[in-house]
Amino acid sequence: MRRIKLPFLKRKSRNTDQINNIVKSDNLPKHVAIIMDGNGRWANQRGLPRFAGHKEGMDNVKKIVKVANKHHVKVLTLYAFSTENWKRPKPEIDYLMKLPIEFLNTYLPELIEENVRVQTIGEFDVLPAHTKKAVQSAKDRTKDNNGLILNIALNYGSRFEIVQGIKEMVHDFDQKGESIDNLTEEMFSEYLYTKKLGDPDLLIRTSGEIRLSNFLLWQSAYTEFWFTDSFWPDFNEYLFEKALIDYQNRKRRYGGI
Ligand code: FPP
Repeated sequence: MRRIKLPFLKRKSRNTDQINNIVKSDNLPKHVAIIMDGNGRWANQRGLPRFAGHKEGMDNVKKIVKVANKHHVKVLTLYAFSTENWKRPKPEIDYLMKLPIEFLNTYLPELIEENVRVQTIGEFDVLPAHTKKAVQSAKDRTKDNNGLILNIALNYGSRFEIVQGIKEMVHDFDQKGESIDNLTEEMFSEYLYTKKLGDPDLLIRTSGEIRLSNFLLWQSAYTEFWFTDSFWPDFNEYLFEKALIDYQNRKRRYGGI
């Protein structure tokens, strides 16, 4: 029987090895944010229901947490549910609200073992009770871990965050009798969900869409963006490391020279 050569596959695996060797240990992003897009299209391509894509995407979260940890990323912020996602059909919303529970039921012991701390950003109080309970319990159980912060953006919308921050800040200024003229960018940052996490250094979006979709608008003023056509369930260690290497090769000037 004739042997069929697969040069493309061979080349890909060689590249993967090379890339693994090239991620340097310096100049790594401390905070990486990811818009995990394309679960639905991933499922569609395979003739599967959208839920199957979300489930596969959920399992991929754990894999990417492991790679981020390996490269000493301090904060990994993942866009799991936006304030706009409530517009989806109810069965899909219900499923997406169950995913954090399933994720934590399956992976919390491993996350604890890996010293990961679970946090969230977004309007938490209005989430379904079962979602809140599972996530709050994970936050509590991991609060003393000092490894990677897995920051899940759950019912997160940047405009909502900013407006909410303005309301609270104006209220505080009023209470203290302080003039709003004294307001600085640093002061305002303290009113955002991300106050203790800092701005993302690198923001990745999968699935070929090139937009922010109301994610970390204030915080990404000087973030480096990285886009890939891969759907989220296909986003893997190779692509994550490719993003890290590209980041390491960029010059961040913050408007200077
Ligand atoms: C966007 O893809 C993805 C989402 C709205 C959900 C993302 C959630 C996960 C990947 C799992 C969450 C995991 C945890 C740990 C909570 P889409 O459905 O809009 O894809 P499409 O654009 O192809 O339709």
